[in-house]
Amino acid sequence: MRTKNIKIVKDKLDDKNYKIVAIVGSISKNSYTRKSLNIAVNEIKSHDNFSVKIIDPRDFDLPAPGSGIMNESRKRLQQIVGEADGALLATPEYNGSFSSIIKLVIENLGYPSELSGKPISLLGIADGDMGAIKAIEALRGVCSHIGGYVLPNATSVAHINQKFDVDDNCIDEQTERRIKRVGAELVKYISRFVDKK
Ligand SMILES: Cc1cc2nc3c(=O)[nH]c(=O)nc-3n(C[C@H](O)[C@H](O)[C@H](O)COP(=O)(O)O)c2cc1C
Repeated sequence: MRTKNIKIVKDKLDDKNYKIVAIVGSISKNSYTRKSLNIAVNEIKSHDNFSVKIIDPRDFDLPAPGSGIMNESRKRLQQIVGEADGALLATPEYNGSFSSIIKLVIENLGYPSELSGKPISLLGIADGDMGAIKAIEALRGVCSHIGGYVLPNATSVAHINQKFDVDDNCIDEQTERRIKRVGAELVKYISRFVDKK
């Protein structure tokens, strides 16, 4: 009897399939933002009932904000984000803030935004000593403004150019752990607080 009850509870949990959207805030060829985001994505995917869709802006032809254009790319972007239970946003620090590319993605999510009401985890990467604190804090403000629930534990990585080898493996254990945490925190929050039923 006890075993049966445990099975029912387990089936109920397995029933919930959570969708995460992971947005890359860089279009550079060997983007460290993309490499870093992949670590967090793999962490999320290691949880059975979580799936991840990566938004790489290079795969989208996003119109300039305010153009009024609703093309196929913009529709697809809004649909993917709209269906997600949570989001992971990764940005490089550019000139003391987040990238214009991640802002372009956000501007194309509608007004009100498809991110509204969703938990959001942030990851920022930078070459400099200070890391991507300014990028993260600015992005936190924007994501809160549009109605997202930004999780407190964002990860900022400094000296990103020293953290990967030529085969794209992260060679700094602490950095890898801190990047994984961004994914793990999102999983933890959604598992606890997002009820799909
Ligand atoms: C336009 C531009 C502005 C940048 N501004 C900063 C900055 O303010 N602080 C910093 O630490 N790094 C800065 N960098 C370095 C980037 O953070 C670094 O190159 C990072 O790897 C870029 O991410 P990506 O590899 O995903 O494109 C800047 C790079 C570019 C291209």
